[in-house]
Amino acid sequence: MVNTVEPSYKEPTFRRTLEIDKIIHGDCLTVLKALPDACFDLIFTSPPYADNRKKTYKGVPIRHYVEWFLPISHELKRVLKPEGSFILNIKERAVNGERQTYVLELILAMKKQGWLWTEEYIWHKKNCYPGKWPNRFRDAWERCLQFTKQKRFKMFQEAVMVPVGDWANGRLAKLSDTDQIRDESHVGSGFGKNISHWLGREYAYPTNVLHLATECANRGHSASFPLSLPTWFIKLFTEEGDLVLDPFIGSGTTAVACIKLNRYYIGIEMMKRYHDLAIEAIEKEKNEHRRARIPNKQMSPRLL
Ligand SMILES: C[S@@+](CC[C@H](N)C(=O)[O-])C[C@H]1O[C@@H](n2cnc3c(N)ncnc32)[C@H](O)[C@@H]1O
Repeated sequence: MVNTVEPSYKEPTFRRTLEIDKIIHGDCLTVLKALPDACFDLIFTSPPYADNRKKTYKGVPIRHYVEWFLPISHELKRVLKPEGSFILNIKERAVNGERQTYVLELILAMKKQGWLWTEEYIWHKKNCYPGKWPNRFRDAWERCLQFTKQKRFKMFQEAVMVPVGDWANGRLAKLSDTDQIRDESHVGSGFGKNISHWLGREYAYPTNVLHLATECANRGHSASFPLSLPTWFIKLFTEEGDLVLDPFIGSGTTAVACIKLNRYYIGIEMMKRYHDLAIEAIEKEKNEHRRARIPNKQMSPRLL
């Protein structure tokens, strides 16, 4: 059975419906052009990095990266709902001893395109193993840039709260006098803190640095991100039943996260090999998800 959702806008002459929970094989620019306006609550993706991985899929030359991406981000802006977010997981390379600037140039160009660069989250790869380079240390973080269409966007901060845990046991056990009154900001921002407000609380809001392990098993794709990465952003920026797009879906990680969290998805992948891998991962996840929803006593032995 094909799931469909009505796009949230009404076209004057006809109404297109959108086929959802689907991985589309094709070039994302072409596929995006056929999708209706303003239908996605969240776009989460990790595009091919500049000049990287030429052996596995077509790399984009560094000097052409911005001009390659801008027509795609134009379409992404069109298909995103006004209150939606676009999270772009990306990290610029170092070439000939110098960090490249194409990500910074892309941010400026996307601002000119009408996007708001709302936030930059950092994914700290906490299980990175050490290495030795003559002029730098191992790269252990990537950017997750948040772009929005307007200042008011959907955000569910409570969904990603973290246990107060060790911080509370150490910091809150020894409150100073300033901690117990509102400590006005030293930079004059007007955002003072009163740390004692967190006394007795079990959960606190996280920072914009995500400490997530990379996954050792790359599920047949050389550049897959860990399931925990899309999961965190899907929880933060969507509700159950919302629709998520990943235009460079690779092995299907974003779709698997959506299934686990009861969100709908559309993924686009250019390479047949990865498209098939994504379908396989999704079928496996759907079977497990279905099984988890059947109480044990009703489960048929054949399903086990
Ligand atoms: C960095 S990988 C994404 C990996 C994915 N996040 C995962 O967890 O498996 C980028 C993917 O984009 C695909 N790709 C590259 N150019 C594309 C295009 N123009 N349209 C659709 N997919 C494309 C590549 O084949 C690759 O699988």
